[in-house]
Amino acid sequence: MRELVNINGRIQNRDQAVLSVFDRGFLYGDSVYETVRTYEGIPFLLDRHLKRLTASAERIAIPGPSEAYISREVSRTREQAGEGEWLIRIVVTRGETPYWPEGRPVGLDPAAFQKPNLIVYLVPFLEGIPELQESGVAVSIVPIRRNSTASLDPRIKSSNQLNNILAVAAASRDSSYEAIMLNPEGFVAEGASSNLFIVRNGELMTPPLGAGILEGITREVVFQLAGELGMPFREVDFLPQDLRDAEEAFLTSSIKEIMPIVRCNGRPVGSGSPGRQSVKLLERFHEMVRTSHRSHR
Ligand code: PDD
Repeated sequence: MRELVNINGRIQNRDQAVLSVFDRGFLYGDSVYETVRTYEGIPFLLDRHLKRLTASAERIAIPGPSEAYISREVSRTREQAGEGEWLIRIVVTRGETPYWPEGRPVGLDPAAFQKPNLIVYLVPFLEGIPELQESGVAVSIVPIRRNSTASLDPRIKSSNQLNNILAVAAASRDSSYEAIMLNPEGFVAEGASSNLFIVRNGELMTPPLGAGILEGITREVVFQLAGELGMPFREVDFLPQDLRDAEEAFLTSSIKEIMPIVRCNGRPVGSGSPGRQSVKLLERFHEMVRTSHRSHR
């Protein structure tokens, strides 16, 4: 297992991989990204991640590389890295800050140049997700709010994460696993790097995209699984109190899968242990992963 970094098709060991300090991804967070997990070495739902990545790039007018090209580079990097379970991070930056022809630096203006950089890197997947799923995790509703949709389209999965970083810092001070952010209107939006579901009166609820959240791929998978299991679900705005009073709650993300929440701001959620529907959905999720593997063989 080798930790490799692919920059524009050149694959190197991670301690040799370098990018210019004038890259706008570094200078301004002017880049988009995806995180994909492998199961038995196979990237899960890669096509959906690539679709979202290229859509994010398009939304900020980065003339990104094609899905087919990125997919090839992901495969090449993974093959050279060898067997193992990986987190695959795919980043597309707007590239290096150039100078205007008259020698003046361009500054923030993105229109002047268009030579994006594609970075694919692999990190061994080590996190103890199954243990956390078994115990459930604590979350904190934090004072930092999710960006207003008028400031930034939440469908853009941007590497610029300062407000999420501040949110996570606040949750860490409470020893919480994830920060739950409200939107500027005070409704629950999502986790700093996950979507959120609650169960109330037996019904699954999650904030709608209009609440200013990322269109999570795992969130969509949960809709599909809930449909298959005959669980009623609804996209609806709800308040912090609804999370605190929920019968069950869970986070979703490509890394966390379906992660039961058992405490919120220090108080138990539901019974204080992973809820029945959350566990059922998680079992179904793992079945889906297994089925998707069989189709790859
Ligand atoms: N985060 N909301 C936010 C703000 C996220 O950053 C993420 C993903 C999600 C869940 O999306 P998905 O189910 O498509 O992974 C929701 C990834 C895992 C990350 O930041 O690395």
